[in-house]
Amino acid sequence: MQERQLGEGGPMVSAIGLGCWSFAGAYGPTSEAESHATLAVARDLGIDFLDTADVYGAGVSERAIGTFIKANPGQYTIATKGGIRRDKVTNKRLFDNSPAHLRTALEQSLSDLGVDHVALYYVHRREDERPIEEVVETLVRFKDEGKVGGIGFSEISPASLRRAYAVHPVMAVQSEYSLWSRMPELGMIQACKDLGVAFVAFSPLGRGMLTRRTPDPASFPNGDFRKDTPRFTEPNFSYNVKAINGFKKLAADMGATPAALAIAWVLAQGDHLLPIPGTRSAEHLRENAAGAELSLDEADLAEISRVLPPGFAHGDRYSFAQLAGAERYC
Ligand SMILES: NC(=O)c1ccc[n+]([C@@H]2O[C@H](COP(=O)([O-])OP(=O)(O)OC[C@H]3O[C@@H](n4cnc5c(N)ncnc54)[C@H](OP(=O)(O)O)[C@@H]3O)[C@@H](O)[C@H]2O)c1
Repeated sequence: MQERQLGEGGPMVSAIGLGCWSFAGAYGPTSEAESHATLAVARDLGIDFLDTADVYGAGVSERAIGTFIKANPGQYTIATKGGIRRDKVTNKRLFDNSPAHLRTALEQSLSDLGVDHVALYYVHRREDERPIEEVVETLVRFKDEGKVGGIGFSEISPASLRRAYAVHPVMAVQSEYSLWSRMPELGMIQACKDLGVAFVAFSPLGRGMLTRRTPDPASFPNGDFRKDTPRFTEPNFSYNVKAINGFKKLAADMGATPAALAIAWVLAQGDHLLPIPGTRSAEHLRENAAGAELSLDEADLAEISRVLPPGFAHGDRYSFAQLAGAERYC
């Protein structure tokens, strides 16, 4: 597995990480045993960069990682996130970047993971009213205490990144980026490059769409994130399937699977990009890891762009409710 640096001065990690939201059933049911089998294959493939968050199944994902690494100690670079919580009375999703909440969240994550340090700690969503400079100061205190190796933000704007960076170097920004979600090309990928910040691309497989197995919205169980997502709702969904069928054919012509090609495409956008495809399945993980072996030249990239040009997707990537907290800048 090729390696990439997690931000200037940061650790070297596998170029492809493993998104562990699926361990909490984000896209269908799973079990801790299945998560452990996936983590064992990740280890064998040299994938050592694990992405999780406290809210993934209210600790389910972090605990699955924690029990695995306890039984299989080794070198993993773990990134987790805090800053989202549920209101105790209304159960409404809130963004809370207060020092008190972030400290409680980090301590709980460390306990669930069974570690005393994570390599990277992100604020999952910014709290509108709280200056990002204050949030950076909170995160730097965690770093000074040795609890986190670097700090990051998810779904922020380039302008917010520059404000944060002016206080302290940021190790990574994490945002959705794939062939069908390309907003980061309008400033964020460039800002990360300028500053020496890693850009961690989440949902690089378009939440399952850019793979051999087309998701079936009729079978999404309750709790499947895609149930409320415009791109997976008709008539958008059928249009999207049709467009992506062309990409699947192109992948077959290139001797690759669509998932590997979609991941290789992200890797080809700059050497500071690290895709973190998510899966519950050891078999799918093997397929995804092959993306690191595919090198794409200008002609390949042009052909991919012809088949799936920027803006091809029908429908937004998020519903209005899902969009809350993600900074918009274009
Ligand atoms: N910061 C944020 O706000 C944020 C938001 C979303 C995600 N993330 C992170 O990014 C990670 C990845 O994103 P994601 O999981 O949302 O989306 P994704 O990686 O684009 O897609 C995951 C979906 O693709 C399927 N899949 C994966 N490999 C496959 C293969 N080879 N063949 C067929 N199906 C395949 C998975 O199903 P199977 O399990 O059946 O393989 C799952 O349904 C998450 O795990 C999480 O760590 C962060």
